[in-house]
Amino acid sequence: MKITIIGAGNVGASCASLLAQKDIVKKIVLLDIREKFSEGKSLDISQMLSIMESNTEIIGSNNYYKSKNSEIIIITCGVPRKPGMSRDDLINTNAEIISFVTKKSIFLSPKAKFIIVSNPLDVMAYVSYMTAKIDSSRIIGMAGILDSTRYRFFLSKKINVSPIDIQSLLLGGHGDTMVPLYRYTSVSGIPIKEFLSEEENDIIIDKTKKGGEEIVNLLGTSAWMAPSASVVKIVESILKDSKRIFSCSAFLTGQYGLKNLFLGVPVILGKSGIEKIVELRLNQKENNLLKKSADHVLNMISKLDKFD
Ligand code: NAI
Ligand code: 2OP
Repeated sequence: MKITIIGAGNVGASCASLLAQKDIVKKIVLLDIREKFSEGKSLDISQMLSIMESNTEIIGSNNYYKSKNSEIIIITCGVPRKPGMSRDDLINTNAEIISFVTKKSIFLSPKAKFIIVSNPLDVMAYVSYMTAKIDSSRIIGMAGILDSTRYRFFLSKKINVSPIDIQSLLLGGHGDTMVPLYRYTSVSGIPIKEFLSEEENDIIIDKTKKGGEEIVNLLGTSAWMAPSASVVKIVESILKDSKRIFSCSAFLTGQYGLKNLFLGVPVILGKSGIEKIVELRLNQKENNLLKKSADHVLNMISKLDKFD
C-alpha cells in the first residue's frame, strides 16, 4: 500500500508524520520540487519511527516515478497565505501547480483517489477533477473536518465539555461563507440548544470562520497540525473502508439543488472514496446560506485563468 503526498511543506510533511505514526501504510512518498527538502523531511520522520513503533517506509523525492501505483495521492503543494491575504488570493498560482501535479500523478497512478488540500480548496478540487478526468467520487477536498474541529474546540471552551463529545456538521465552501449547522450539532446526542442559544452559537461560528486567519496572523503562515490530522481521518476512512461520515468538498451533480462545483457536504467515505453524498433537509435559512457559499465558489471558478 503506497500513498504519495505532493508538497513536503508544513501540511505535507506533517501529514506524512501523522500517517506514518499510525503504521497503517507500507510506504509514503513525499514529493516536492525541492528535492533535498523532501529528502530531509523524510529522513527526519523515518528516524522517529522506531520510537513510535511504526514500520512505514518514507522516501522523499522530486521524481514522480516514485509515486507509481499509489492508492491515494494527497495534494498539499502550492503557496499558503500570508497575513493580509485571503485563501482566494492564491487562486491562479495554485491552479497551475495543482493542474500540473494532478496530470503527472494520474498518469502514473490511474486508480488513485485524490485528497486535495491546497487553497482555495473548493476551486483546487475542481481544477484537479477537470484535469484528472476521473469519477468525481475519487476526488475529495479536505476542509470540513478542519472547520468542524475548530468549531468543536471553540464550543468546548464555551460550554465546558470535552470536544471529543461534540458532533457537528459544516456545509459550504472553505472560507468565510462556510455554513455551520446549529440544528445538527449535539453533545453526546444532546442537542446543542440544551447548552447555548443560537445567538450564542453564532459567536462561536464567527470565531470558527476566523480560525484560520487567527493562526495566519500569529504564525505568519497558515496552520498545518489540525489540517494534517484532518487529512489523516480521510485516509484512514478510505483504507479501512469504514463508511464514516465527514464534511468534505465533493463534486455536486444536483444535490442540494447545486451542480458543477465542489462544495463541502456530508459524505460517506469508504474504499472507493466518496461513496455517497448525504442530503440533509435544510431549512430556508440554511439553504440560503449554502446558496450564497456556492455562488462564491462559482464566482471564484469563473475567475480561473485557463489552466493547462
Ligand atoms: P508550504 O509552503 O509549507 O508547503 C508547500 C510546498 O509545496 C512547498 O514545500 C513547495 O516547495 C511545494 N511546491 C510548490 N510547488 C510545487 C510543485 N509544482 N510540485 C511539488 N511541490 C511544490 O505550505 P503549507 O502550509 O504546507 O500549505 C500548503 C497548501 O495547503 C496551501 O495552499 C495552503 O493554503 C493549503 N492549506 C489548506 C488547508 C485546508 O483546510 N484545505 C489547511 C492548511 C493549508
Ligand atoms: C486554514 O483554514 C489555511 O485553509 C487553511 O487554516
